[in-house]
Amino acid sequence: MSDTGQAVQPGLSGSRVAVLGAGKMGGILLQAFLKDRLLRPDQLQATVLHRKRAEMLTEQMGVVVSTDNVAAAGDADVILLGVKPSQVPEVVEQIAPVLSPEKLLISFAASVQTSAIEQAARCEIPVVRAMPNTPAAVAEGVTALCGGRYCTADTMALAQRIFSTVGRTVLVDERHMDAVTGLSGSGPAFLYIIIEALAEAGVNVGLPREVATLLAAQTTLGSARMVLETGSHPALLKDAVTTPAGCTVDGILELEEGGLRVTLIKAVKRATQRARELAG
Ligand SMILES: NC(=O)c1ccc[n+]([C@@H]2O[C@H](COP(=O)([O-])OP(=O)(O)OC[C@H]3O[C@@H](n4cnc5c(N)ncnc54)[C@H](OP(=O)(O)O)[C@@H]3O)[C@@H](O)[C@H]2O)c1
Repeated sequence: MSDTGQAVQPGLSGSRVAVLGAGKMGGILLQAFLKDRLLRPDQLQATVLHRKRAEMLTEQMGVVVSTDNVAAAGDADVILLGVKPSQVPEVVEQIAPVLSPEKLLISFAASVQTSAIEQAARCEIPVVRAMPNTPAAVAEGVTALCGGRYCTADTMALAQRIFSTVGRTVLVDERHMDAVTGLSGSGPAFLYIIIEALAEAGVNVGLPREVATLLAAQTTLGSARMVLETGSHPALLKDAVTTPAGCTVDGILELEEGGLRVTLIKAVKRATQRARELAG
């Protein structure tokens, strides 16, 4: 595993970057690049489908947002693809005439394989496939990355540098990308449901809603940091909370009876399976 703590050469000082498909995830990335000063506004461009939205985003973000993928990709050294998985081949075919092996194409669409993108690109352009997640909006995301056949260590380092602006990065083999999508791509939604349920439980046992939500969210955040920072197995950390004949063990019994563990495993498996289907 590699993470943002590792030294990666920025390599973006004079580069121009285009985000094709500045929707929810593309928008999060654009804002992070600007906030982190990874890129100046004049180094960035983006596209969307609807002209009105392009105008609104141009005003909001102070970067040029258009509906012209070919012009944006033509101007850019690094092109990020953020359209829906089913639209990726069409958009890559559209921009193929302005692609070249000197550029870098990074797709963060679920499901679409680097080989499909390389085929649509019709040149030996390095293609990186990335799977970020929405906590990227608060720089606490995690992005898994894998490279296509024309990628080098330098292109992977550059891609890692780009996604390190929104949290941790990890390199994985492409065969694991759908599993990543099912776990960390979809995972925030699963965890919001857990936080919501814990907060609801707090209200149920008499806590004011605001206090219950704070307790539930901070407990989730703190527990996650314990796993990451101590390196201890989650089961050991759980044992440290579980006093013999205490209250936690009674709560755990309810969780096990309710099937939380199995339900979460099934949720990730199902999301992984769906991720395999999305590219069509
Ligand atoms: N949301 C997540 O949690 C998440 C996490 C990881 C990866 N992803 C991936 O990110 C991609 C986008 O997901 P999203 O949730 O951000 O969806 P989204 O909000 O619907 O964004 C899609 C964007 O693509 C634009 N678009 C559509 N057709 C286009 C075209 N031909 N040329 C240029 N732009 C076009 C849309 O423009 P308009 O705004 O004008 O409609 C929209 O801004 C997907 O492939 C998804 O798998 C999402």
